[in-house]
Amino acid sequence: MTTVVVTGAARGLGFCLAEAYLKQGAIVFGLDRLEQTAELSHTYGDRLQALQCDVIDEDQVRRSAGVVARTTGTVDLLINNAAIYLDDPLTRANEFDADIARRTFDVNAVGPLLMTKHFLALVLAGSGKKIVNISSEAGSISQNWRSHEYAYCMSKAALNMQSVILQRRVKNDGVKVLAIQPGWMRTAMGGMDADFDPSESASGIVDVIARNSDINGPMYLDYAGNACEW
Ligand SMILES: NC(=O)c1ccc[n+]([C@@H]2O[C@H](COP(=O)([O-])OP(=O)(O)OC[C@H]3O[C@@H](n4cnc5c(N)ncnc54)[C@H](OP(=O)(O)O)[C@@H]3O)[C@@H](O)[C@H]2O)c1
Repeated sequence: MTTVVVTGAARGLGFCLAEAYLKQGAIVFGLDRLEQTAELSHTYGDRLQALQCDVIDEDQVRRSAGVVARTTGTVDLLINNAAIYLDDPLTRANEFDADIARRTFDVNAVGPLLMTKHFLALVLAGSGKKIVNISSEAGSISQNWRSHEYAYCMSKAALNMQSVILQRRVKNDGVKVLAIQPGWMRTAMGGMDADFDPSESASGIVDVIARNSDINGPMYLDYAGNACEW
């Protein structure tokens, strides 16, 4: 049975990705700060395990990896989805705020690095061999159109760099790394004016992950499978 780990699984895109894989019959470890992903176990029983995990707390990340190691022993797919957006695009009041930049970088870029650090051995032991970082168009140096939102954009650009380096690191182990743009979604982060529901993006992303296993193939893709420019 496929084992999937999703961070930030209690709501938004993370919740929809967790549910999409549960519907496919996978075992899903939903990591979130308050173990609210447990709600899904009412429908999916033991195949969903909610683990309390703040991705910037290395002890919690290590402990979560330990639980997964003792439960399934392997991970087929790690999805680093958890992220924050603290910029204020309307007032731009804090656009050069160092604390906002550091906190955002910590969750959006260092968090995935810690997750990969502690889950990589489980991914290497699995047969799916995929690590997915949920990125954004905001992280593209060539496509980004903004004149503010430094913190979020810088953090996602760093995540893209992390994805590229990681792909080289695990290439000979047969692990495929993807950086996926989910599109503009109606979530707490995206707001209600966004283009579509996170469930639509999740179903596209599940398909993109399934169709892109070639280590030498494109790795920065949108939810519909279109290649993105770094
Ligand atoms: N929404 C968009 O339009 C959009 C566009 C491009 C890219 N994205 C990316 O898509 C992904 C999902 O975004 P979303 O729209 O679903 O956001 P969201 O609704 O705001 O959900 C963010 C999730 O991340 C979790 N999270 C935040 N900080 C965390 C931490 N330190 N440790 C663990 N979990 C943490 C939150 O958990 P809590 O419930 O505990 O806060 C929540 O589950 C993110 O990577 C985001 O950058 C979103």
